[in-house]
Amino acid sequence: MKGIILAAGKGTRMLPATSVVNKNLIPILNIPLITYSVEALVALGVDKIMIVASKNDLGPIASYLGDGSDFGVNFNYSIQKEQKGISHAILVARDFIRENENFAVCLADNIFDADFIKNNFGNILSKNDGNTHIFAKKVDDPKRFGVAVIENDKVTGVEEKPQNPKSDLAVTGLYIFPQSVFGIIDTLKPSARGEYEVTDAILDYVNNGLCTHHILDGFWSDAGTPESLLAVANHMFAKAKKSNI
Ligand code: G1P
Repeated sequence: MKGIILAAGKGTRMLPATSVVNKNLIPILNIPLITYSVEALVALGVDKIMIVASKNDLGPIASYLGDGSDFGVNFNYSIQKEQKGISHAILVARDFIRENENFAVCLADNIFDADFIKNNFGNILSKNDGNTHIFAKKVDDPKRFGVAVIENDKVTGVEEKPQNPKSDLAVTGLYIFPQSVFGIIDTLKPSARGEYEVTDAILDYVNNGLCTHHILDGFWSDAGTPESLLAVANHMFAKAKKSNI
């Protein structure tokens, strides 16, 4: 099973730290952030992972992750030449995915509970039913995220960082896409903030009744801002203390 980790973001919300270190190598306690996305993909049964990073960040990320043997997977690395959004970054992996093959995508600054993912979704990639699958999570501040509208257990809408969110369900940065997503991304136009949004690719599947979802009970947070990084660190610290008792 294949997965992609998107680690090419500019990390502007973490300046000035990100002027000297890639956002995804900033540690939570002693663990570099990107480790959690590797663990999330491994929990989904992924064993071949493409890491997509900017030219400057690829070296440091590769020197931490290596060939994947420490994680029981195989890594390969690709450069996103221009940072034009998540959908644009997914296109970098076009040749990595075979015809009719589905794959997982994880944003490198997203933190999941790998045990929860493994126990609940360990087989989800083997379905390969042509649907896109999203994992939604109830949040207090939906405006910061892609937001999903779910009615009668069906995804009926997704919107990127809406001013007036129609729900409190954030679309987390873990996605399962069929190979058809590359063709859909080709048709996308940049959003008002100039990015090819992942939610616009997902919307195409939503509009065709081809987007399935789960609402996550397990822990999830992004860690791409100072506040969220601190919240995740506090969570991990409490968890580590509890397991040492
Ligand atoms: C991205 C996606 C958004 C998603 C979020 C999860 O936003 O565009 O849909 O909800 O990741 O962390 P970003 O925070 O990278 O702008």
